[in-house]
Amino acid sequence: MKESNIELMKNTKSIKDIDVRDKRILIRVDFNVPMDEDFDISDDTRIREALPTINYCIDNQAQNILLVSHLGRPKTRSMEFSLKHVLKRIERLLGRDVAFAETIESVSEMQNKIGNGGVILIENIRFYEGEEKNSDELSSKLADLCDVYVNDAFGTSHRAHSSTYGIAKYAKERVAGLLLKKEIDSFAKAMANPLKPVLLIVGGSKVSSKLALLYNILDVVDKIIIGGAMSNTFLKALGFDMQKSLVENELVDEARKILEHAKEKKVKIYLPVDVVSTDDIKTHANIKITPAQDIPEGFMAVDMGPATSKLFSEVVRDSQTIIWNGPLGIYEIGAFSRGTFNLAHAVSDTYAFSLIGGGDTADAIDKAGERDNMSFISTGGGASLELLEGKILPAFEVLERK
Ligand code: 3PG
Repeated sequence: MKESNIELMKNTKSIKDIDVRDKRILIRVDFNVPMDEDFDISDDTRIREALPTINYCIDNQAQNILLVSHLGRPKTRSMEFSLKHVLKRIERLLGRDVAFAETIESVSEMQNKIGNGGVILIENIRFYEGEEKNSDELSSKLADLCDVYVNDAFGTSHRAHSSTYGIAKYAKERVAGLLLKKEIDSFAKAMANPLKPVLLIVGGSKVSSKLALLYNILDVVDKIIIGGAMSNTFLKALGFDMQKSLVENELVDEARKILEHAKEKKVKIYLPVDVVSTDDIKTHANIKITPAQDIPEGFMAVDMGPATSKLFSEVVRDSQTIIWNGPLGIYEIGAFSRGTFNLAHAVSDTYAFSLIGGGDTADAIDKAGERDNMSFISTGGGASLELLEGKILPAFEVLERK
């Protein structure tokens, strides 16, 4: 049998496979954390998840540690996207001072001055034009600052940028950090060697963004729950009048093909049997709960109904492995969050291994109050989607193999 993308990536050498003693270590981390308008960090999971690798280097007597990250998508150097906003939180969580380097040019002098095991954070790497272009010049400059390049930025591992990809061409040693390893091991548990039956819960607004995932996953799972606005396109493919609901009309035939393909592969697909709908999402003064084929004229489906919640919870209860990507309704609005939250509670009540995609899905689980009850919540939204699509992520591709 052909090795899956996950099995190939699982073979990546990690920091534990090499000697870090007396070496300069550059760790690409993903400190792209959400902040409010006052730059207060609303979720520091990504920083906390980066600590084991940093502490491993300190504990194993690395000479010094240089942290490289991006923050947001800056067009130019600006305070709004400065990593200075996360410096204090890193210092507090790490329990030590972290030096801040405004530019790449200033790093080497700081490395010479800082004591053994010292930690330096460099300013947002996307302030450099070459980063997203994967420029050779920037890649080799970064590699010159270290003896070992460690990639621990799972959330950015689907990007082939200088600090995630190009640097590996010039670095003497290139290995994965402990978060990268933890992420890939969890995906392997859910996809390469899962306990059966395996269930995929997929939601979000667009079928178009989940097509590759749906086709790839048919070889992995036994059952698929489809919810969120993307289920409207599937319901339309069954011949239902979806009224004003969001439907990708150009993908109705594709949805039909997926349903047929799933049938051939003996994968069961579950769609909403009843829906919550409204004629105005903003005011949501009028809300109706009806069977999926009876949405009132001028109304649009915005969440699954109570009968669907019960049906989907039964499907969840009968699963040993659950992979969840995408919210199942407009969970940000209280009145339309019941479906997503009810299913989060159902997943939390099982003994199944539950793997939650990052981004919106992680946020929805958090808002449902179930973050601590899931087996694994990925720190990457886009990256976890690409893994589910069967791709080899560029940032893994360039690391050494065992
Ligand atoms: C993310 O938040 O998904 C990662 O940090 C990657 O960010 P990007 O989509 O701007 O590359």
